[in-house]
Amino acid sequence: MSKHQHPHPHSHDTAEESGNGPVPGGEEFWDGRYSESTRIWSGNPNALLVREAADLPPGRALDLGCGEGADTVWLARRGWRVTATDISTVALGRAAEHAAEAGVADRVEWQRHDFAQSFPEGEFDLVSACFLHSYGDFPRERILRRAAAAVAPGGTLLVVGHAGGPSWNPDAHADIHFPTPQEVLAQLELPEGGWEVLSAAEHLQPMTDPEGRPGTRPDNLLKVRRLA
Ligand SMILES: C[S@@+](CC[C@H](N)C(=O)[O-])C[C@H]1O[C@@H](n2cnc3c(N)ncnc32)[C@H](O)[C@@H]1O
Repeated sequence: MSKHQHPHPHSHDTAEESGNGPVPGGEEFWDGRYSESTRIWSGNPNALLVREAADLPPGRALDLGCGEGADTVWLARRGWRVTATDISTVALGRAAEHAAEAGVADRVEWQRHDFAQSFPEGEFDLVSACFLHSYGDFPRERILRRAAAAVAPGGTLLVVGHAGGPSWNPDAHADIHFPTPQEVLAQLELPEGGWEVLSAAEHLQPMTDPEGRPGTRPDNLLKVRRLA
């Protein structure tokens, strides 16, 4: 499965339909999702993170919804000290294995949080929220406002989100409204004069379809910098 595949927020498995399954988007739900196989994402870092963070001087980074840790490992390899956090203990365990294999375990602190309930302490030079999508009552807007509050003066907030279905199935998520970068920016309610908008745009990401043929998928990027 591609790393960038959307988590299908409106799909239901049999257990959910029967009402006996885990709460959609909760810890048990995501642990179950990650337990379905030994790897559910590609293992590659997010292409927009790589593009947008490559020139940033390494400092303290916060990876929100780190999943299997590909972004965290990429950042740590570049010298960042990363606080990597996710609701799923299964994902965090797997991500820690990947960081150890990459020889960067000493640069990563793992924290389990349900961002609806708690959030990592501290301030960070980079806060990254890549594909921080979930199911059910996921308070993404509130979480992203908390994410902005965790950015240190001079630091960067990067929000990468899905913008629609892939080229081989453009109507895949026709019933979902993915916020545009401008909508995410408005949701952040950043104080006027305190932030600089560095990028707010949709990007077509090259990727292969399930049969290995070339395709694309649209992603939204918002990059803002807190003024020092
Ligand atoms: C679509 S995945 C993206 C994972 C990773 N960022 C990537 O791009 O490969 C969303 C991640 O957010 C995590 N997540 C969902 N709801 C969460 C919550 N309430 N608190 C913390 N993490 C959450 C999930 O466990 C999952 O790892």
